Amino acid sequence: MNILLVGSGGREHALAWKIRQSSRCRQLYIAPGNAGTAREGINVSIPADDFPALADFCLKEQIQLVVVGPEAPLVAGLRDYFEQRTDTQHIAIVGPGKAGARLEGSKNFSKAFMLRHHIPTARARTFSSSQLNEALAYLDEIPSPYVIKADGLAAGKGVIITSDKREASHELTLMLSGEKFGNAGTTVLIEEHLSGIELSVFILTDGTGYVILPEAKDYKRIGDGDTGPNTGGMGAVSPVPFADTVFMKKVEERIILPTLRGLQSENISYRGFIFIGLMNVKGNPYVIEYNCRMGDPETQAVMPRIESDLVDLLWKTATGTLDKTSIRISPLTAVTVVMAAGGYPGDFKKNNVINGLDKVSNALCFHAGTKQLNGNVVTQGGRVLAVTGMGNNLDEARKTAYSGVSEISWTDAYFRKDIGMDILRYY
Ligand code: AMP
Ligand code: GLY
Repeated sequence: MNILLVGSGGREHALAWKIRQSSRCRQLYIAPGNAGTAREGINVSIPADDFPALADFCLKEQIQLVVVGPEAPLVAGLRDYFEQRTDTQHIAIVGPGKAGARLEGSKNFSKAFMLRHHIPTARARTFSSSQLNEALAYLDEIPSPYVIKADGLAAGKGVIITSDKREASHELTLMLSGEKFGNAGTTVLIEEHLSGIELSVFILTDGTGYVILPEAKDYKRIGDGDTGPNTGGMGAVSPVPFADTVFMKKVEERIILPTLRGLQSENISYRGFIFIGLMNVKGNPYVIEYNCRMGDPETQAVMPRIESDLVDLLWKTATGTLDKTSIRISPLTAVTVVMAAGGYPGDFKKNNVINGLDKVSNALCFHAGTKQLNGNVVTQGGRVLAVTGMGNNLDEARKTAYSGVSEISWTDAYFRKDIGMDILRYY
């Protein structure tokens, strides 16, 4: 079949790489893609939010399956647009409609959803812009650290965690006034702080049937030892040693099943990925957030561990035929190291020439912020590449990933040196 993948990051390169391996994929297009996805299929320069252009392209190229990588087009209603147009209604889509995407698009909605369906999560209170004084007073009532979340999408930067009450008050004031994050911040949640260790669980669901994909651990902070500001994610590891059978059974019974039943009971038809950000608190899972898509860079560690035909899984998801499908997962460990432009997550330079890409032999090199320019591959974003090493154990996978990283260079390249180190103690 002809497939259109929407997005342009490392996640999309990893999805494209895996989609391409399927005998069911005839032609793969990526809109808009990057220099890496161009090696897996044909990039089309249509932005992810230009629904009319995407729909017209699908008709022209007889696309049967659309796979949406990032959250923004889902929250903005890409599926709803395709379903409303009579000429694109028949196209199968992986990704929920606007209603389902609210699980990610509104933290207030997703918190209320979890509470309605008794899904374990941190307690929280919601405040709107007219309630600044109440919100500030609430900080006096609760213990630190303070967890303050903007309701809407804020490119992964909408959460402030601080033990400093003055900073918490300042951030709260900026958010509720709309100065920070605009409308996305004019409703905030102040949440109980959970301590534990995080992991990301992913499912593909057609609303009733589901498969659980390999879980992963993400490394959100810029610096080694989890220091410095939050980023989109600087590395990932899969599998996660503490996500053993007992823990995953709790995740399935306490979180996955109630989530799906909750969506059904609210008449939200959901076909796509659900990414459940979890905190393991003393062996019990709590939901930190839902996302309506795969994680980045988790996808770059998860895809290489899926042995099943991904297109088959995606097609069943999109057409509501996933019931009782099983998934084969490789026992190997994957470690993904993100190479970023110096300065990220703050200001960084673009258009630096990337050297050594052709020297990487054992690792997989997924492109994120790259483009082709005058015969070179140049940097084009904060997170530039994600290098994945596979191995029989964490140590081997780390070595393969970092030996790949050591072949690649550009002015100002930065990466964390400790991806996977923190979980060595769980083996
Ligand atoms: P989110 O955007 O909701 O995933 O939050 C970003 C990060 O903030 C998460 O990955 C966690 O590390 C942290 N976080 C969010 N909520 C909490 C919480 N209630 N307790 C502790 N850490 C949290
Ligand atoms: N790596 C976290 C995310 O994709 O949201």
